Amino acid sequence: MFRIAKKEVLNPSVTRMSIEAPLVARKVQPGQFIILRVEEDGERIPLTVAGYDREAGTVDIIFQIVGATTEKLNHKQQGDSLPDFVGPLGKPTETEGLRRVAVIGGGVGCAIAFPVAKKLFEQGCEVDAVAGFRTKDLVILENEFRANSTRFLPVSDDGSWGRKGLVTDALQQLIDSGRAYDEVIAIGPLIMMKFVCRLTKAYGIRTVVSMNPIMIDGTGMCGCCRVSVGGKMKFACVDGPDFDGHEVDFDEAMARCAAYKPFEAKAREAACNLFSMEVK
Ligand SMILES: Cc1cc2nc3c(=O)[nH]c(=O)nc-3n(C[C@H](O)[C@H](O)[C@H](O)COP(=O)(O)OP(=O)(O)OC[C@H]3O[C@@H](n4cnc5c(N)ncnc54)[C@H](O)[C@@H]3O)c2cc1C
Ligand code: FES
Repeated sequence: MFRIAKKEVLNPSVTRMSIEAPLVARKVQPGQFIILRVEEDGERIPLTVAGYDREAGTVDIIFQIVGATTEKLNHKQQGDSLPDFVGPLGKPTETEGLRRVAVIGGGVGCAIAFPVAKKLFEQGCEVDAVAGFRTKDLVILENEFRANSTRFLPVSDDGSWGRKGLVTDALQQLIDSGRAYDEVIAIGPLIMMKFVCRLTKAYGIRTVVSMNPIMIDGTGMCGCCRVSVGGKMKFACVDGPDFDGHEVDFDEAMARCAAYKPFEAKAREAACNLFSMEVK
């Protein structure tokens, strides 16, 4: 069993947990993920490792409550345990040799982008971090980004935090000001990554994106997480989750991601009913 050492609410729909998982903590690198179950017979869900403490043997996850399983996970408290916490899975984000990078995070994607920005900054890379949220109430990890970047550009859709605009506006501004990058790393909603890639392609800046398709086994066997990259089929769980964004077929990925929406809505409704019955 994997004990929840700490639980912290980051915003009304995003929670951070530190999980005691010493074997995962010993090996994990930024960009890798774990698969957990909240109950013995529950669904397996992948979450990216948002931080780790090798000495304490803990691994941080940051998750958005979007459906049945994340709802159930959020009902767990400090001291409770999870039956499964498997990892590290996937390939770590490649950071070697990079000297000037723009790291772009969108929404809960900032949880995945942050450990990458931190690693790059710690290895002496110049990091321009752009974080984008719909509105101020949804902001997470602001202080962490500020402390681990050379420049920090906050943006929000409604202008309530940082500049009003999209992450692509901030990136355009950086490029226009003469900033040159070895690479852009963009992590967030598919539509955000698609438009970041469209922008960087015009300037010939290599861009890495983190793909989060639906996953089941996370070990390359079920084929559920396939994405088209450069016209070839790749499995995000073993070949990724990072890919060359200029090669990714985002439209196909978006269509595949929406395939289970009606089932997911039903499952969440059932989980919400279960918790409201417990409260009564
Ligand atoms: C490699 C990887 C890393 C991820 N890292 C994070 C993270 O750090 N923080 C975070 O908040 N979310 C992350 N996600 C997404 C997270 O796995 C889903 O939000 C979660 O599975 C939703 O489950 P649910 O039952 O609560 O919601 P559901 O109602 O079942 O689904 C809501 C949405 O979540 C996605 N989803 C559902 N099931 C899966 C699945 N088995 N695999 C992948 N996506 C699924 C779909 O887009 C779906 O529309 C990651 C996904 C992948 C593939
Ligand atoms: S999740 Fe099954 S092959 Fe990737």
